[in-house]
Amino acid sequence: MLFAGKSSTIYNISQIVSGIALHVLNYYKANRGKEFLLDMMDLEAYRRYLKEHLSAKRYTHSVNVSAASCALAKQFGGVSPEKAKLAGLVHDICKEEPKEIQYILMMQSTMDVCEEERKSFKVWHGIAGAEMLRKQFHVTDMDILRAVRYHTIGRAGMSPLEKIVYLADMISKERDYPDVDVMREKANRGLDEGMHYALEYSLEKLVKRCAYIPHHTVEAYNEVLTNLHRKAD
Ligand SMILES: [Fe+2]
Ligand SMILES: [Fe+2]
Repeated sequence: MLFAGKSSTIYNISQIVSGIALHVLNYYKANRGKEFLLDMMDLEAYRRYLKEHLSAKRYTHSVNVSAASCALAKQFGGVSPEKAKLAGLVHDICKEEPKEIQYILMMQSTMDVCEEERKSFKVWHGIAGAEMLRKQFHVTDMDILRAVRYHTIGRAGMSPLEKIVYLADMISKERDYPDVDVMREKANRGLDEGMHYALEYSLEKLVKRCAYIPHHTVEAYNEVLTNLHRKAD
């Protein structure tokens, strides 16, 4: 299977697979002397990795999502703020990897990937990111892996951490889309209130763009609506 790259380079799948392994391996080797620890809670190590593999803009976004996740975890309880900080920090770890690498990692994912996701390049980085964290960084915490995997589309049965990262991604400090203040206010009211508004916003955007809608997003929306109706009764 071949892919045409950005500069019309033709990539072969085996080259890409060994390429990504080398890419990460070289980083480990280079950082061995600097006590680069692959401990899942070693935030500083992840920060260093992200700083070297993301643009300045994306890096700032990641740090801000980390801070927003931590704040939401403290506000609503039930989730370790440290864990939220980490999940928020790494949620876009694969965002700037070449499309081909994202595709390969997505196809290697041990989590279910639906047809609509395979057709939507914009959501690949979440699935690919979780797979990279599992395989290359040996993250075994499924809550963190799911928070990264579903941060673009949501799903029914999201854990509080998954909701926190989803919302933090939409309300992080640098976000300035027209409705962001309303989004922040809804998220501050409650995780389900925030998710309802966020999913409504995402669904509307997807429909306007004529983009495919993964069934997970529709199921997440229906579930959150049911939760809110239950609360109101
Ligand atoms: Fe993302
Ligand atoms: Fe993001």
